[in-house]
Amino acid sequence: MLRYFFIGFALFVLLLVSMTGLRGWKSKRPPIELFPDMVRQAKYKAQSESDFYSDDRSARHHVKGTVPVGYAPPQGNSSSSHDTMGDLGPYQNIQFSASPDYVATGRMGNQWGTGIPFEATAAVMKRGQERYNINCAVCHGASGMGNGITSKYGLNGIANQQQQRIRDMADGEIFNTITWGKNTMMGYGATIQVPDRWAIICYLRALQHSQHATIKDLPEDIAAQKEFSTTAPLPAQPK
Ligand code: HEC
Repeated sequence: MLRYFFIGFALFVLLLVSMTGLRGWKSKRPPIELFPDMVRQAKYKAQSESDFYSDDRSARHHVKGTVPVGYAPPQGNSSSSHDTMGDLGPYQNIQFSASPDYVATGRMGNQWGTGIPFEATAAVMKRGQERYNINCAVCHGASGMGNGITSKYGLNGIANQQQQRIRDMADGEIFNTITWGKNTMMGYGATIQVPDRWAIICYLRALQHSQHATIKDLPEDIAAQKEFSTTAPLPAQPK
C-alpha cells in the first residue's frame, strides 16, 4: 500500500516540476507546438528576394490580359459598367467600394434609403437588364417570378420579386441583399460592381411594374386606341 503511495507521490512531484519548475528557463530551440496551425508557411513576404525566378524577385507582374479586382479596367472593355452606362456623375469611377455612404451600403443613417443615386437613363436600364439576366435570372427568372432554371433543378424558396413585400422594399435593402445575400441567397458584392447593382435595381423595378401595369400607365393617345380601351369589347379569341 505504502509502495503505491510513494510511486504516486514521485509521479506527482515529477509532473509538478515539469509543469512549473521549468518555467523561466531559456532555450534556443523552438517551443513544442501541439497545434502549429499555419504559423509557419512556405511563402514569400512582400518585396523579398527569390532565387526561383531569374530576376531574383518574388513579386511578379500581373498575368498579361488580366485586371485585378478593384482597378479600373482599360477603356473600351465592355465589361466595365462605366463604358456602357454613360456619365454617372460623382460615381463615375466607383467599381467596388466599401465606403459607408448610401451608394455603397443602401443605408441612410440607421435605415434603408431609397432611390437610385444617379440618373436612371435608358443606358442604365439596358445595362441593368443585361446584368439581371446574367446574374439573377438563373434563379429569380426572366420576369422575377422566382421560376428560373435553378428552380427546375431543386433549388427551393427562391423569392418571387413580384410579391408586394419586395415591391414595397426600399431600394437600399435590395442593394444590401445583392451585396451580402439573404438567408440562402449568397451575396454578389464581390462580383457585381456598385453601379451595376443599382442598374439591376432599376431593371428589377421595371420588371415589377411590368407585371402590375394598368391602362393608366399608357400615354393617353395610345390608351384611347380601341384595342387598349377597357370599354371596347375584346377581340374574338381563336378557338
Ligand atoms: C443562386 C440563386 C440566386 C441568385 C443567382 C440570386 N438570388 Fe436572390 N434570392 C435567392 C433565394 C433562394 C432567395 C430567398 C432567400 C430567403 O429569404 O430565404 C432570394 C431572395 C432575394 C430577394 C428578397 C430578399 C428578402 O429580403 O426577402 C431579393 C430582393 C433578391 N433575391 C434579389 C436578387 C438579385 C437582384 C439578384 C441578382 C443580382 C439575385 N437575387 C440573385 C436566390 C438567388
